[in-house]
Amino acid sequence: MSLNTIEEIAEFIVSDGKGILAADESNPTCGKRFDSIGVDSTEANRRDYREMLFRSRGIQDNIGGVILFDETLRQKAQDGTPLVELIKNQEALPGIKVDKGLASFPNESSEESITQGLDGLDKRCKEYFSLGAKFTKWRAVINISDNIPTDECIHANMEALARYAKIVQNNNMVPMVEPEVLMDGDHSIEKCYEVTSKTLKELFKCLQDEDINIRGTILKPNMVTSGSIAAHKAPIEEVAEMTVKCLKENVPSELPGITFLSGGQSDLTATAHLDAMNKIGSFPWKLSFSFGRALQQPSLKAWQGKKENVSLAQEALSHRALMNKLAANGAWNKGFE
Ligand code: 13P
Repeated sequence: MSLNTIEEIAEFIVSDGKGILAADESNPTCGKRFDSIGVDSTEANRRDYREMLFRSRGIQDNIGGVILFDETLRQKAQDGTPLVELIKNQEALPGIKVDKGLASFPNESSEESITQGLDGLDKRCKEYFSLGAKFTKWRAVINISDNIPTDECIHANMEALARYAKIVQNNNMVPMVEPEVLMDGDHSIEKCYEVTSKTLKELFKCLQDEDINIRGTILKPNMVTSGSIAAHKAPIEEVAEMTVKCLKENVPSELPGITFLSGGQSDLTATAHLDAMNKIGSFPWKLSFSFGRALQQPSLKAWQGKKENVSLAQEALSHRALMNKLAANGAWNKGFE
């Protein structure tokens, strides 16, 4: 694979319906996932789990990039092969989460957050590049509740995303910009649409102000859905229509790929939504996936931290990766499950 420019890297990641495996859980988040199967979150267990995922047969052909956490980028498999090499052997590209998580915005009493991590980012990017990273991720979080999000919070987060993207592109890696409007709450799909639309508008304005090369950028947004505890849940087709409409109105056509986060949707629902969008079609970018939970959950459950379950767990990941590739081509149906 000789990919020389950030435009080529971004295009490769989403080529032919491929998507991204988000395996960049911070150690505390990985701890929560492991708690659900009664496994201790030790460095060795995290390594074994990620090694199992990256050796799954279904990575090749279905996954164009894998996002890692700092620890994982430096880890070696049990046989001494760097985990990054396992990913490259599957013809996928290693990426790295570079943000440093959330702080309250603007003060401790606030329900809003601002993402940290710009200090020292240039230096860290240089090291990540030398360790083999081809793309990076920064997640901004926008919360919906009675009086939020505020315009100030949206602006501060989108400005930080643009400054991050600039530093990353200066270091010859693709920035994946993730403005996540959280599903948490009882809000309607219309409210999610309004907030997502405002957030994306502000994001692309800030990216333009920073003179970001859009052809060498990937967008990782939420889908437009009802809140997780809304009384009325919008059906699959409505989610697909509203999401495509929102993206068409706000995302420049030269962007190569949009890869959704799953945000707490079940694995099947996330796949069904992605498929329904691609069946609508007629948009200029690839619409694909960058799922964490919706790709890993069945595999994590099958694994249970036990060696004898590794093959089964790898099959579970391979299956989800294939299902989502089909969905990214609008060629999935429930019967394949
Ligand atoms: P989920 O798909 O589980 O939301 O994770 C994606 C991710 O990378 C969140 O930042």
